[in-house]
Amino acid sequence: MEPEGPVEPVEPVEPVDGAVEVDTAVQPSPRQGGGAVPHGASRVTLPPMRRLFPYPVSPADLEDREWGLDELAGLYAYPEHSGSGPWLRANMVSSLDGAAHHEGRSQPLSSAADMRIFGTLRGLADAVVVGAETVRQEGYRPARAREAFAARRAALGQGPAPVIAVVSAGLALDFTLPLFTSPLVPTVVLTGAAAPAERVAAARATGTEVVVAGEGREVDAARVPALLAERGLTRLLTEGGPRLLGQFASAGVLDEMCLSLAPMVATGTAPRIMAGPPLAVPARFSLESMLEDAGFLFTRYRRIPDHGECHGSAMI
Ligand SMILES: NC(=O)c1ccc[n+]([C@@H]2O[C@H](COP(=O)([O-])OP(=O)(O)OC[C@H]3O[C@@H](n4cnc5c(N)ncnc54)[C@H](OP(=O)(O)O)[C@@H]3O)[C@@H](O)[C@H]2O)c1
Repeated sequence: MEPEGPVEPVEPVEPVDGAVEVDTAVQPSPRQGGGAVPHGASRVTLPPMRRLFPYPVSPADLEDREWGLDELAGLYAYPEHSGSGPWLRANMVSSLDGAAHHEGRSQPLSSAADMRIFGTLRGLADAVVVGAETVRQEGYRPARAREAFAARRAALGQGPAPVIAVVSAGLALDFTLPLFTSPLVPTVVLTGAAAPAERVAAARATGTEVVVAGEGREVDAARVPALLAERGLTRLLTEGGPRLLGQFASAGVLDEMCLSLAPMVATGTAPRIMAGPPLAVPARFSLESMLEDAGFLFTRYRRIPDHGECHGSAMI
């Protein structure tokens, strides 16, 4: 029986009548809730989307139309200089009232179009950086190679699929899972120097690379992008969760925020998408793009660097 909560986005197949069909039986994603489609082929028709920003938009942008994966990949392309230095983007979904999950899963807040963007962002990344609790809650699996992004990845010298990089202090992770035993590209674990030695050994026994990114038990979030860049992983995507993402933002290393705003209200006590140490002064971001589908807003914001800060080779 398939484990619950697999991780990989669905693979769009033939367009039908201006929409795109997705084979949900191939490998559901975390936001889709792996347990929701347990057996057999089940198809979901993806609704078209509209581009609302940048403005002014062309008349075609305002029409509901299918956005092909290649077009989405172009819209969400990493900055050119990210090939030579780290660029950390986050992708999260939130309800209107700021809930980052519902009953422990992000799937109830997601949609087919959200999954499409989620999959596109993965298809562009060298590495997906994720907190251990999200791995445990969402049942992460290895990323897989997707035909739709193969040529683009090859042209950039990227591997066939992004590396999954798990951040954990205690390493209470199930190292018998496919994420560690049979990934297409080896999984990386980032931890502190004081991580439990037997858990480090258990991780390494699977072929997982364990990267020390902090002096004590904890990882120093500020060091993560540079440590991954040393391994040739510069186009970084973090999928949270809120505790890890909050640390990246607090450390000033979050370059870009791709936020899906779901037209839903959840109330309750779920955290918002970032739960880290507060910044003395809120960091400013500029809106780069916004798509709309069925009331979902898919925003892309880029951090406005502090004066004198370097990004890649460019002084801002
Ligand atoms: N809305 C969305 O888009 C979205 C995205 C992702 C997740 N989620 C939801 O968010 C929830 C999980 O998020 P979360 O904030 O509780 O957890 P998280 O950030 O995913 O993971 C927290 C865990 O990561 C490790 N960690 C974090 N910072 C660390 C550091 N500096 N050093 C070492 N280890 C560190 C620790 O693992 P150890 O305990 O192993 O030491 C910690 O317990 C789930 O319900 C998930 O569904 C929502």
